[in-house]
This record gives sequence, C-alpha cells and structure tokens, in this order.
Amino acid sequence: MTVIVTGGAGFIGSNFIFYMLKEHPSYRIVCLDKLTYAGNIKTLKPVMEQEKFRFVCGDICGRETVYRLFEEEKPDIVVNFAAETHVDRSIDSPSVFLQTNIMGTAVLMDACRKYGIQRYHQVGTDEVYGDLPLDKPNLFFTETTPIHTSSPYSSSKAGADLLVLAYHRTYGLPVTISRCSNNYGPYQFPEKLIPLMLINALNDKPLPVYGEGINVRDWLYVEDHCKAIDLVIHKGKDGEVYNIGGHNEMRNIDIVRLICKELKKPESLITYVKDRAGHDMRYAIDPTKIHSELGWLPETKFENGIQKTISWYLENRSWWEEIVSGEYQEYYQKMYGSRFG
Ligand code: NAD
Ligand code: DAU
Repeated sequence: MTVIVTGGAGFIGSNFIFYMLKEHPSYRIVCLDKLTYAGNIKTLKPVMEQEKFRFVCGDICGRETVYRLFEEEKPDIVVNFAAETHVDRSIDSPSVFLQTNIMGTAVLMDACRKYGIQRYHQVGTDEVYGDLPLDKPNLFFTETTPIHTSSPYSSSKAGADLLVLAYHRTYGLPVTISRCSNNYGPYQFPEKLIPLMLINALNDKPLPVYGEGINVRDWLYVEDHCKAIDLVIHKGKDGEVYNIGGHNEMRNIDIVRLICKELKKPESLITYVKDRAGHDMRYAIDPTKIHSELGWLPETKFENGIQKTISWYLENRSWWEEIVSGEYQEYYQKMYGSRFG
C-alpha cells in the first residue's frame, strides 16, 4: 500500500506520518510538501532515513510535479493535508488560500482520476459550518449542517470540500472528507493560539487575547485526529463526510489562564487586544456518525493532552526558537503591532 500524504511537513500532517509509519509498518508513505513558512523539514528528521518513507518538495498546484509523482509512486491512497491554514493570514491575504486550498485540491483529484486510486481523502475543517451562538449550548455541527463560512480561509476550505464531492458525483472518484475541530499537540506552528501563548508566556511577553476571550473552540489532541483519519481512509464509505471532535469546548481565556498557571506565569501578561474581523463565536462538533459507523472515540483527555503539549514545547525549544527568531518576527509585528494599540 502506498499513501501520498500532502502537507506532511506541517503540524497535523507530520503527526499523521509518524502515526502511519508506526501503525502500518508495511505501508510506503510519500510526503509531498512545498515547505511554505508553515512546513518544516526538520520536523520529519526522525523518519527521513526510513526505508518506507520518501519526502518530495513540491507544490500541489503544480500539475507536472503532481502527475510525475503519481506516475512514479502509483499511490493507492492520497490524504490531502496541504493547505494555507491560518485564519488571520487569510484575512490579510486571501488569494494564496484560494490557490492552494481550491486549485491544489483540484490538481490532486485530477491526478487521482488520471492514474486511478482507491481513495482520495480530503482533510477538512469544522469552520466550513460557520459558528454557533454561545447561548445555545445544545447546538452542534453535524454533517448535514449547512455550509456557512465566515473567513477567506473557511470559504476556501468549503470550496475544496464542494469540489471533492462534485468529483465523486460527476466522475465517481472514491473520496471521503473529514471535518475536524481545533487540534493541539507537538509541532504546531506558533501562529496558532496554544503554541503562541505558550511561547510568549515562556518569554514573559504579553498574551494577546482577541476581543473578550469568550470565543469557544472544541479542542482535540492531534493523535486522536490522526487515528480518526486512519479509520476513515480504511473503513469510511465513498462520498461520505465525517465530523471529528471530542466534545471538549473551552473559552480562549480559560486556555490562556491555564497556560499561565501551568508555566507559573502571572495572569498580568494577559492583554485583551483588537478582535479578529468576522471572529467565529463557537465551534462544537457532533461526532456521532464517526463513532457509530467507524467506532472512533477520542482517547486523550484535555488535561493529559495539554500536559504532553506543554512538556513537548519545553523539551523542544530549539524547534520553535529557530522559527520565532526568523521571519516570524516580521509576521508578529505586522499582525500584532497595531492590535496592542
Ligand atoms: P499547517 O499550516 O501546520 O501545515 C500545512 C502544510 O501544508 C505545511 O507543511 C505547508 O508547507 C504545506 N503546504 C502549504 N501549501 C502547499 C502547497 N501549495 N503544496 C504543498 N504543500 C503545501 O497546517 P495544519 O494545521 O497541520 O492543517 C493541516 C490540514 O488540516 C489543513 O488542511 C487544515 O485545513 C486542516 N485542519 C486543521 C486543523 C487545526 O486545528 N490545525 C483542524 C481541522 C482541519
Ligand atoms: O476549527 C478548526 C480550525 O482551527 C482549523 O481549520 C484552522 O486551520 C486552525 O487554525 C484553527 O482555527 P482557529 O481560528 O480556531 O485557530 P487559532 O489558533 O488561530 O485561534 C483559536 C482562537 O483563539 C480563536 O478564537 C482566535 C483566538 N486567538 C488566536 C490567536 C492566534 C486569540 O485570542 N489570540 C491569538 O493570538
């Protein structure tokens, strides 16, 4: 079995590669990644020399590159993680999101049609459903919740999902889509809430909480997401969408306070800053379908997952110190400079 994993030098993709090489030692895993600012070849160092692993630096939008890779590898399964993923960057510069997230997905699926595969899997997001109100805690996103996006990022991901379903209906391409809630864990780029707050707190820098900090996200440990995708690609039904989430809703401010407590840093570091434009209020997944049809349940409780994550960032300082010392500084200044007012 040969599996092409796109975007495997990023956060979830790299965790998925480690998981697959461990769980399916007979599989060949081929990573295609453009190594954008979010991709880090050093993350894949532990598997780089493994016989069953190959890394290819390339763009999913590059038709020639993608077709050549399919000719060489004849993949059975393609799992597409490659994407521009940060909502704030999409608000600043939408076009690269449309290019990678929609056009890149189309190129990958054209290759699947041309060369034939057993399964194309699209790694999607719960953000395609828009948001839920804070005062209706019994409302959750199901697979039939209408698509109703807020940001250029979520709109590009929704466009990709619709295209994937169209390739199934029109061309009979064997596809599945998963839509997951917010992930946390090792190797997450420090533009996202948890690693950004961890690193700022460790450096005694202000912790920029958007708005009032009352927005709610449904947090899932990254390995639980990887397990769910492994189940969907092997046991999921063609043409189906599976929501992934662990009923672990938390307010942003409570996450940031927890980080202060764990790192023994004062809450006076918390600084309320200008809100994100179009900021989604609450995400909450109903995972009934993937549980009842495929038997998936999250295994890592948030208390344990956040401890593991904090320990990882403490023990792997060189991984993130290199990131935050580079062009990240310009990014931070651009994104946060005016926010602090
Ligand atoms: P990430 O930003 O950490 O990594 C993205 C990876 O894709 C990087 O390695 C980058 O180099 C690569 N990439 C970007 N453009 C590319 C291109 N044109 N060609 C090839 N490679 C390219 O992202 P992540 O947080 O690991 O998210 C992975 C996937 O999971 C995305 O599709 C995202 O929408 C989805 N998702 C993420 C979350 C989350 O909480 N992080 C939750 C649900 C779904
Ligand atoms: O729900 C799944 C999505 O989760 C994925 O599809 C996205 O790729 C991923 O980035 C994530 O999107 P969010 O916008 O929810 O994640 P982010 O970490 O950017 O922000 C989480 C919450 O924290 C959100 O309400 C905004 C807030 N926030 C974020 C940052 C970076 C702050 O208050 N301050 C910050 O500095």
